[in-house]
Amino acid sequence: MMKNKNILWQQTLVNKSERNLRSSHNSVLLWLTGFSGAGKSTLAHAIERRLYERNCATFVLDGDNVRHGLCSDLGFSQQDREENIRRVGEMAKLFVEAGVITITAFISPYIADRERVRSILPVGEFIEIYCRCPLEVCEERDVKGLYEKARKGLIADFTGISSPYEPPVNPEITVDTGTDDLDKCVGKVLEYLLQHQII
Ligand code: ADX
Repeated sequence: MMKNKNILWQQTLVNKSERNLRSSHNSVLLWLTGFSGAGKSTLAHAIERRLYERNCATFVLDGDNVRHGLCSDLGFSQQDREENIRRVGEMAKLFVEAGVITITAFISPYIADRERVRSILPVGEFIEIYCRCPLEVCEERDVKGLYEKARKGLIADFTGISSPYEPPVNPEITVDTGTDDLDKCVGKVLEYLLQHQII
């Protein structure tokens, strides 16, 4: 995309370190990735609840919600998903800059798109969380009835059925959302944040 050389970067007078100092935790991006129905949203909101109870500043950005507004012009072609993740990544970066532990729940099926988001954040602030759940389990759950529609050919480019999913190669955290209960998955994420002195 063309960058406008007449637009300059405005420096702030309050920076992220100062915000983090005041809130007594670091702000990071917890990037959940996995199939539709893997439990990303459920996990994202449960993590947020636990962090909120520890007085952390938090916010969840969720695929289904963001696609009603900011990304309502985008579909599910590879190009549109790329743009979806680019916008969400930029927005999440602003939230992190604002001192918020930001939790995103997007399928984000392409490694390159996720790595692009990683590359715009300072090292250590993009934490990839692979919500590992076999496709058969997601399809069996079919909470939104979308897998059934996709199998019938009523939805094009459906992840896992007619569109690819590239699992993370070396995620910071892997949670087995197909077998482990919610508490265990949340616990694993909290443990990582404590171990890395983020909270
Ligand atoms: S992403 O691939 O661009 O990251 P995103 O997470 O925003 O996807 O949106 C996924 C949600 O949109 C799914 O949970 C599902 O409810 C819905 N959806 C509608 N059509 C599709 C499709 N073709 N593929 C995947 N999800 C779809």
